[in-house]
Order: sequence, then C-alpha cells, then structure tokens
Amino acid sequence: TSPVIAIVGSTMTDLVTYVARAPAAGETVVGDRFVVGFGGKGANQAVMASRLGARVVFVGCLGDDAYGEAYHRHLADEGVDVGHLARRPGPSGVAPIWVEADGTNRIIVVPGANAALTAPDAATAVEGLDEVQVVVGQLEVPQAATAAGLAAARRRGAVTVLNPAPYSSVQPDLLAAADWVAPNEVEFAELAVEHGICGADDADAHDDAQVQALGRALGCAVVVTLGPDGASVLVEGAVHRVPAPPTSAVDTTGAGDGFVGAFAVGLAEGLGAVEAARLGCACASWSVSREGTQTSYPSRDEGATIRASVLPV
Ligand code: RIB
Ligand code: NA
Repeated sequence: TSPVIAIVGSTMTDLVTYVARAPAAGETVVGDRFVVGFGGKGANQAVMASRLGARVVFVGCLGDDAYGEAYHRHLADEGVDVGHLARRPGPSGVAPIWVEADGTNRIIVVPGANAALTAPDAATAVEGLDEVQVVVGQLEVPQAATAAGLAAARRRGAVTVLNPAPYSSVQPDLLAAADWVAPNEVEFAELAVEHGICGADDADAHDDAQVQALGRALGCAVVVTLGPDGASVLVEGAVHRVPAPPTSAVDTTGAGDGFVGAFAVGLAEGLGAVEAARLGCACASWSVSREGTQTSYPSRDEGATIRASVLPV
C-alpha cells in the first residue's frame, strides 16, 4: 500500500492578480485577470503528494468563513485526510498574489486561522496516526506547532522535512526536529547568513561549499531548490546537483511547494534523496509552465507519467 505523509501546515485562499508589471508605490496599473485559487504552502504540498498517490493527512486550522468551508471540501475532494483539519472562529488564511508577465510572483500571506494551530494539536495528531513515513512542516503556522509535530514524528521513527518558508528565524527546537531542511535560494541565503556561513552579499545557493557548511551548521540533511537550475541535495557531506527539466515559465507560484510535496513522496516510498529530488524537480517544472498553484500541478495520471519519465523502473 502507498506510504503515509502528514503535513503540519497552512491553507490559504490565493487571490491572484495577473498583471503585465506590478505597480510602484503610489501607482495604479490595470491588471489582466483575477483568479481565486486554493493555496498555502502546507496544502499545496499536501495536494502534490496526494496527486502522486501517497496517503496524505493534513494537520491545520481553517476559519469559520466561506473560504474555510470551500477549502475543507476541496482537500477532501483531493483525497487528503481532513480528520485533523480543525475549524476555528474567525477568518481563514488568505494570500493576495501578483503574477507578472514573466511568471514571477509577489505574495502577502495573512495567516488568519493558521495562527490558531497549537503545539498540542499538532503533537496529538501525529502521535495518533496509525502509520506515517514522512512529516513535513513549513513556517506559515506557529513554529511551536510545527516543532511539536516534527518532534512527535521523530519519536515514532518518521522522517521529517522542514521547508523554512516564508523565511523567519527558525527556533532551535524546530531545527533540532528536522532531518531535512528544504529552502529555496532566498531562504538558503537567509539561513546561511543567520548561521554565520557567509555575509549577506556573498550568500549563494549554487556554491556547494556553502551548502555543505550550512548542513554542518544545522546538523541535518539539506535540499536547496534552485529554480530553473533544479536542486542541490546534500547527503552525508556530498552535494549532488539534480537538473530541472527545461520549461518556459508562465507562473512560478507554488513550484517550490510542488517540489517539497513530491520530494516527500519519494522519501516516503524509500527512494534515495537524489531520486526523490529528481521527482520533485520534474513536478515543479511541470507546474511552472502552467497557470496557478495547485491547478498547475500534475493530475494523478500526469503524475504517473512524470514519475515513469524520471525514475528507473
Ligand atoms: O508557495 C506558494 C504559496 O505561498 C501560495 O499558495 C500562497 O498561499 C503562499 O502560501
Ligand atoms: Na504554476
């Protein structure tokens, strides 16, 4: 049977404006289109993992508004176990997003109910699972909750992955509970500077020596996503570069989450980390060439095709 992945994390309703060029301060510009979609880093990762055939449990909080109602139904429709997705009084999380013509994005997250997830909620949920191979967290719910969820996963022998996004300084107990840290280039630079690897001006996720130094400083395995350049995987002191299949960028929103969700599936299935990253890069590239966040992820059938193209049978 398929492996189980628990995501301790966020849901956001993405309020996406497509615009040729983002406005400067005080400026008004005319946008092309506006789309409401399902997002939030945690839920994006959950949906990607579910589409690849994993059994996924989501641990998080929605509000008691219409966005929360719709999101609960959506995750259930995606085949995600919503037994630990609580509803709390107040608004659900939202994310106003601007996507410019070249596919780059700017995102503001307003956490709402995501902020209500507690450490006991997360620990109890993870402890109570019949089975779990991998537990993934991000930084859009309180760090204490993520730390408690990952620590509970550790105690029961599951592999833990921390996607430190959006970046804020990571508490020591959360770092200590992470087997893998999975930053993008920006988050890599923040981590590297914070942990004294380099100065702000010379942080470079493409520099293998910096990736190695960060792994030593954090005391865990590291996988850094490099956008069109794929990912660097640091395992046992050595850096392996995994290329991303070439694509033309339409909308990069949620590509990193697609990578993390697929990488988690690979680890949960017992693939090596480099193979897991290959699956992650292929799914992320796929999503970049299509509009939206979860809407741009491969379907179950497409996921099976992608998997067959990148992994040895
Ligand atoms: O990583 C992309 C996601 O970041 C979006 O879906 C948005 O909701 C924010 O959480
Ligand atoms: Na996309």
